[in-house]
This record gives sequence, C-alpha cells and structure tokens, in this order.
Amino acid sequence: MPRAQITTPEALPDERSADAALRPSRLDEFVGQAKVKESLQIAIDAAKQRREPLDHALFFGPPGLGKTTLALLMAKELGVNIRTTSGPVLERPGDLVGMLTSLQAGDILFIDEVHRLRPALEEFLYPAMEEYRVDVRIADGPHAQTIPMALERFTLIGATTRFGLLTPPMRARFGLIERLSYYPPDDLAQIVTRSARILAVPIDAPGTAEIARRSRGTPRVANRLLKRVRDYAQVRADGKITGPVALEALKRLDVDEFGLDDMDARILKTIIEQFEGGPVGLQTIGAAVGEDSGTLEEVYEPFLMQQGFLARTPRGRVATVAAYRHFGFTPPRSAEQPTMFDG
Ligand SMILES: Nc1ncnc2c1ncn2[C@@H]1O[C@H](COP(=O)(O)OP(=O)(O)O)[C@@H](O)[C@H]1O
Ligand SMILES: [Mg+2]
Repeated sequence: MPRAQITTPEALPDERSADAALRPSRLDEFVGQAKVKESLQIAIDAAKQRREPLDHALFFGPPGLGKTTLALLMAKELGVNIRTTSGPVLERPGDLVGMLTSLQAGDILFIDEVHRLRPALEEFLYPAMEEYRVDVRIADGPHAQTIPMALERFTLIGATTRFGLLTPPMRARFGLIERLSYYPPDDLAQIVTRSARILAVPIDAPGTAEIARRSRGTPRVANRLLKRVRDYAQVRADGKITGPVALEALKRLDVDEFGLDDMDARILKTIIEQFEGGPVGLQTIGAAVGEDSGTLEEVYEPFLMQQGFLARTPRGRVATVAAYRHFGFTPPRSAEQPTMFDG
C-alpha cells in the first residue's frame, strides 16, 4: 500500500525542507491573496461558531503559490488534525480507507493533485464527501461484498494546478473554491523579507526588490532565489545581500530579469522563431515545446499574459512586441499593431 505523504511534486527534493522551514505557520503570516484569505477566514469563523466541520474546499492555481500552505493553515486555524496524500499515490479505494476512518470530527483530509485521482477513487469519495460514508469492498471475485462504513464529519481539501481536468461531479462537491493568483512584486518583497529574517541573512531593500522582481510572481521561486543569492553573498561578498550583489548572483544563475523560466522562454521563442510570432494554436505550441497543451494553458500562459509577453487572439496565441524585444528579435511590422484581444 502506498504510503500517504506530503507530496509537492513541483518542488525539488532539496526545496522541500526549505519549503517547510519558510512556510507561514499562521494565516496572518500568509502574505497577499487578500480576497482568498478573507473568504477562508469567514468560512473558518462560521464553521467554528456553528461547531460544524468546514465545507470541502478546493484550491487551484499554478505551482508554488501557496495551496499546500493554505491547507495546513486551515487545519491550524480550526485546531484540527490534517492527513495528507495526493492523487497519483492512491491506487485503490482501499488505500484511503485507513486514512478516512482515522479522521475525527472536523479533521481535514488534504488531497494534493486531486485532478489525478483515478475514477474508482473519485467515485469512492463521493459518498464520503456527501454522506460521510464509504462502501468498503471485502473480498474479491464471486464472494465480493461491500459493507457501508460510517465516517466522522470531516473536511476534504483538494489542491490542483489543473482546474480544467477536474471532473464536473468532483468540482460540484466542493463548497469553497478558491483560485490563487500570481503575487505582485510588493507581496513577494514581503515574503523575501520574512524568509531572510528566518534564514538570518542580512538583506537591504534594493536586494529584496531585485529578488522579488525576478521570482515569476511565485513565492516558492522567491524563496529558492533568496537561498541561492545568499550562498553567493556568503562566498563572493561579505554575506550581505544588496542590490548589486543580488543582481550579480541572479545573472550567474541565468535568471531572466523578468524571472522567466526555461519553459516560458521556450514557449515564446518557439512562437517567434517557428511560427513567425503567431497566431498559433496551443496544441501546436505544445507539440513543439514538448508540453501538454492543458499545462501550457493553466500553468504557463497566465503568467506570460500577465507580463504582456503573450496575447490571445481569436486565431491563436501571438508573441507581443515586448516578447520580441525581450529576446533580442526585431518585431515585425504586424506585431506593432495592438493585438491584445482576449478570448
Ligand atoms: N502567501 C504566502 N506567504 C508566504 N509564503 C508563501 C506564501 N505562499 C507560498 N509561500 C511559500 O512558498 C512555498 C510554496 O508554497 P506551497 O504552499 O507549497 O505551494 P503550492 O502548494 O501551491 O505549490 C511555501 O513553503 C511557502 O514558504
Ligand atoms: Mg503543493
């Protein structure tokens, strides 16, 4: 039986311990996402007043924006236990039985990558979510039998980077659905400041701003860059992260001044070099860069559009003038025309 564990597959192994150390331990330390925090706070307060379990909740958005952190914070705020697992490690309904039956009233079951649950597991979860009951299969073959088992009233929290892959019946069973969005530089600066304090590394405002600006709107990236800049500052400077030290360190790390990562750059360069700047369909881009088009749409595209490098037109995606300039290409005349349609 696969072991239940906290899995953040998008985090590299050495980042997991860093993630844990830098993870906010109270909801008020969770920077930004004001609307999400407010609706969660209201739901938490209401559930506490009514002495009822919280509604099942779903967090979605690109990797590294705080979905797992929020789930852990919810448990803390509610004063309940949390058990965590993830869609891909669960093979059979039986893998969930022990976990579900060990939950006490109000406890949270966190399922990361909930869009990757197998259909049999999803179906097994429906009565658990709606009626706090599971139908457990005992024995196989001709003597197969299922017995209903009652569960305590628990809360399921799901997280996903791929909202579009969640089945409609699953989606419909979540009472609270919250989308996390990319963080503005000010929020990231606050996160870098807090993390630097925890890591006991001296950093000034320009150093903080430099890291924040290049973090792809993502707290996990901000923390990762901070740690790498800290190493550089320690070895090549006098340990303090200033603006110039951060700049130099990030240059060596090949971090783009807008924080674009490898895949971001590949997507844009592919559109420019292979498709004359577009318009080109997402499927075609996906085939060219070797990434699934749904992931492009839900994980990469939102950031590139927010940064003004990519635009959607009725006939496909186009690289903007800013994208051409960013990679040192001369924009064609056609790209000079405003092409910022949406849809
Ligand atoms: N709003 C936030 N404020 C402070 N730190 C954050 C915030 N969101 C995320 N982080 C940091 O980024 C790391 C990654 O967040 P995580 O919750 O694992 O993201 P996700 O589950 O969405 O991939 C966490 O360890 C935490 O340190
Ligand atoms: Mg996570």
